[in-house]
Amino acid sequence: METDTFEKTTTEVDFLPLNGTDHLEFYVGNAKQSAYYYQTAWGYTLVAYAGPETGVRDRASYVLQQDKIRLVLTTSLVPDSEISDHHKKHGDGVKFLSLWVDDARASFNETVKRGAKPFMEPTRFEDEFGYVVISAIHTYGDTVHKFIERSNYTGQFLPGYKSIVSPMKAVSVGLKYVDHCVGNVELGKMNDWVDFYENVMGFKLLLTFDDKDISTEYSALMSKVVSNGNGYVKFPINEPAEGKKKSQIEEYLDFYGCAGVQHIALETHDILKTVGELRRRGIEFLYVPETYYDDVLERVGNIDEDMESLKKMNILVDRDESGYLLQIFTKPVEDRPTLFFEIIQRKGAKSFGKGNFKALFESIEREQENRGNL
Ligand code: FE2
Repeated sequence: METDTFEKTTTEVDFLPLNGTDHLEFYVGNAKQSAYYYQTAWGYTLVAYAGPETGVRDRASYVLQQDKIRLVLTTSLVPDSEISDHHKKHGDGVKFLSLWVDDARASFNETVKRGAKPFMEPTRFEDEFGYVVISAIHTYGDTVHKFIERSNYTGQFLPGYKSIVSPMKAVSVGLKYVDHCVGNVELGKMNDWVDFYENVMGFKLLLTFDDKDISTEYSALMSKVVSNGNGYVKFPINEPAEGKKKSQIEEYLDFYGCAGVQHIALETHDILKTVGELRRRGIEFLYVPETYYDDVLERVGNIDEDMESLKKMNILVDRDESGYLLQIFTKPVEDRPTLFFEIIQRKGAKSFGKGNFKALFESIEREQENRGNL
């Protein structure tokens, strides 16, 4: 039948089906204190732990959860290890962008077959709650994608981790799930990494921003967004572009030492409440001048939120053909000007706030200038 032929020729099989982000693992200098920060300031609940008390001799890891977001904070307990080397070079940063899959063996085989550099062969780990299979491949810089198959596991996190109840009761700030994770790569490397996600991981190019979209008086950057088949996993990739002064991407690369994760966007269903609470707990956000709000309604049309409240919280608004979005960015969350977070609330919009780029980058440049890095 014609219909059959049509379907056969146009339906592509997704060779890397992903259920979403499984967890983000950071290598940090002091996981115990970082875990306290993410609990008190960000409202995550400490749910699991691995370390000397659980038979792990060389590291300590804290697993924090807020709704569907899982962060793992890992520190080295010894001077010479892959973790301490990573920390020496990069400071605190994201090591693993771990993806939730149904078949970690197939995920590894399919991507390695297409050119991925293996980090860990598919390996089975088990405890009294069942088993998981984990494999991993390299991506940009020292960052790694783990594939986590957990359908035969009922434990809190993974084998090797002990479920724990924190003495501190964390109060959620309403963060729901990871919306996107952004990578900064070296000058001229953006297209190589977009090719990697397209050819090796089966992602599709969603959006392209050139230096005309993203430039200020002083600096510029280029960005492309790739997404997996079902849209659950989105990775924008940035590279610096020629400008009069140093771009924020170059500043990141200088301090991180190579390509790496620049920001993680977390979805909330009530951005005013989430940001109000984060501000009350001392989280610092980038500042956009009040003049930003002068023409915002002309640009985005009617929105549900009260403009005065958004202005008070310094939240940005943008619209695309599908709806609008509200967003705000923190300052870097460590002393090196590297990783920061975005809080985003999507009201239909599928894009990334292109209309806010200029205001945002001017704001980042003010911070760069304060650090003496512009
Ligand atoms: Fe973003």
